[in-house]
Amino acid sequence: MTKHINELIASRRALLGGLVGLPLLDLSACATPPASVAHGSGFASVAATNADTITLPPGYSWRKLIAWGDALFEGMNDAPDLNALTRAEQERRFGQNNDMLAVFPAEYAFPPSRTQDRMIMCANNEYITLELAYPGLSAARDVTAAQIEAMYAAVGVSVVELLNTRDGWRVVKSGANGRNRRITPFSPVEFTGPAAQHPWILEAGAVVNAAEPGPANTIRCGTGANCAGGLTPWGTYLTAEENFDGLFVGSLPVDVQFADPALALDASSFGYPGFGFAEKTPRQFRVDENPRGPSLYGWVVEIDPYDPTSKPKKRTALGRKKNECATTALTRDGRVAVYMGDDQRDEHVYKFISRPHFDPANRAANSGLLDDGQLYVAQLDESGGGRWLPITLAAANAAAEAEESPIRFRDEADVLMRVRDAARLMGATPMDRPEDIEALHDENWQGQGPVLIACTNNTERGFAHPGNPRRDDPARPDKAQSNLAGHILRLDEAGGDVGALTFTWDIFAMGGDPSAEAPSVRTRGGGAPAFISTSFAGEPTTSGARFACPDNMFIDSTHRVWITTDGSDFVFEDCNDCVMMTPIASERPRPIKRFLVGPVGAEICGPLMAPDERAFFCAIQHPGANNVAGIEFSTLRWQGEAPTSHFPDGGDAWPRSAVIVITRDDGGRIGD
Ligand code: FEO
Ligand code: CA
Ligand code: CA
Repeated sequence: MTKHINELIASRRALLGGLVGLPLLDLSACATPPASVAHGSGFASVAATNADTITLPPGYSWRKLIAWGDALFEGMNDAPDLNALTRAEQERRFGQNNDMLAVFPAEYAFPPSRTQDRMIMCANNEYITLELAYPGLSAARDVTAAQIEAMYAAVGVSVVELLNTRDGWRVVKSGANGRNRRITPFSPVEFTGPAAQHPWILEAGAVVNAAEPGPANTIRCGTGANCAGGLTPWGTYLTAEENFDGLFVGSLPVDVQFADPALALDASSFGYPGFGFAEKTPRQFRVDENPRGPSLYGWVVEIDPYDPTSKPKKRTALGRKKNECATTALTRDGRVAVYMGDDQRDEHVYKFISRPHFDPANRAANSGLLDDGQLYVAQLDESGGGRWLPITLAAANAAAEAEESPIRFRDEADVLMRVRDAARLMGATPMDRPEDIEALHDENWQGQGPVLIACTNNTERGFAHPGNPRRDDPARPDKAQSNLAGHILRLDEAGGDVGALTFTWDIFAMGGDPSAEAPSVRTRGGGAPAFISTSFAGEPTTSGARFACPDNMFIDSTHRVWITTDGSDFVFEDCNDCVMMTPIASERPRPIKRFLVGPVGAEICGPLMAPDERAFFCAIQHPGANNVAGIEFSTLRWQGEAPTSHFPDGGDAWPRSAVIVITRDDGGRIGD
């Protein structure tokens, strides 16, 4: 049975058993060497393939660094028994469906050195699905409550120490003083900032803590649906909660919705609850028992990787949405800007600017920067300009009144809780699923002005928004078309300052096939056609390799942009999801090469390089989620079919998401 691409994309993210969740990787410390640094001869673009492995250019090799279920602590069996995973076991093992990756030097320094032999890696574990869990289960309905609880514990964040040995980068299991840890949807966290005392949070927090009390001033809701994120110049990790709707199951009581129309609107906007076995799901994730539980998610969460006892902090000043990422850069005057995409069709792009300044000499002095500042949302115009609209209580309520919306915002906390509504009412530009955002910055984290925004696709749009072009079929000018191949948007902040409140925009690259003979292809499974011209305003934007559905990005020290794809295989069915590369400074048509092709059914997340750029890390997420024909394993598994991927262990092994490390066989810099 085949499905339409809309269903495939939607169902990939739906968590069976009530779990879900969802990258980035960012890099960080993107130091900026002199522009005169020359690239070498480069690598040979990899051909399209459906091989169930990692395919690389000649002269490159890959190795598994860590995979779902691998032990984080000394004294544990390294290889997991996937059929015997309990919550307690999973809380000490690497999580499932790794997404964003970030690395920190073992000892904090600003700016960080480009030579590091010890690092701390943070990895998001976005979601888990039942069809890729518990290999011994013969029917979905047989899953137990304990197994579902363990699945929730596979989500969140994994913190892992790395050591560069003679044999390359390795994971170090933690002993008594190690820094490895798991943060799951059951971990105690603090809410900070203007919405921390929002009544929805207080009510839901009480339900959560009634089941399992935590330390004072914490709620044991942890973090979930961790997609991309970012890292800060003061050495903390930002994990972005995205598709939290899938964490919740059951049915939202009608009387509760009737009494609180804002909650009903919230459920409709975010799409909760998802589907699952409600009677077997922990109470805090059942909306009949905890109707305001979803208010505990959709935040950007700050984690200190240097202190394994620290409590993660949910920074409410950054607003609640389906956060794809939280990318930081410093303004010209030393404040911190945080860029965020809300990855849902026709949602928006945001920027937060702190009021206080970053203090490079006193790490602790920066701990409150993300609680004090102004949140903005992007409004693009047709002429190639745009502005950041400040989201304030007065502006939101004035817009609500002008639109004759019956629902007003009570206070600043309410605006941040329902920031999507405020942004929409204020006239923010609807985007084609804005995913990762990368802001070019120098070795001192100072933003340079260019900002890239990956817009994965939009399956349901037949008209253009500024910055989100319609995909035209010259043969059918009358026909409404969606943007199935996606694109990458470039903003240039005024004056090259990420603190600016105006910008210009342009299309950096259109997903598609620069040498296509026809304007469209049938998407895999016989779905709607995807228009694959890479032209914008009559001019080809790319040359070289084809790709679709850009997701995460990484900009290296010589400003080459490494782009991962999520769903490219639905548009170009002869090639699994991949990693592409193009220099940011190149001109149209921008030359694009394919660096890596992933295994069957996987998306690629979290591109990142070691500080010396001699190792490339990325996250292979949900290998085996579908077969090469595009049929989802959620359909195949319960018909008795074998897994469609055996990555990374090979043979007839059960597929596991994994972080991999790629090096050049001659030890040289990646990509040269
Ligand atoms: Fe988690 Fe928007 O990808
Ligand atoms: Ca993503
Ligand atoms: Ca993704």
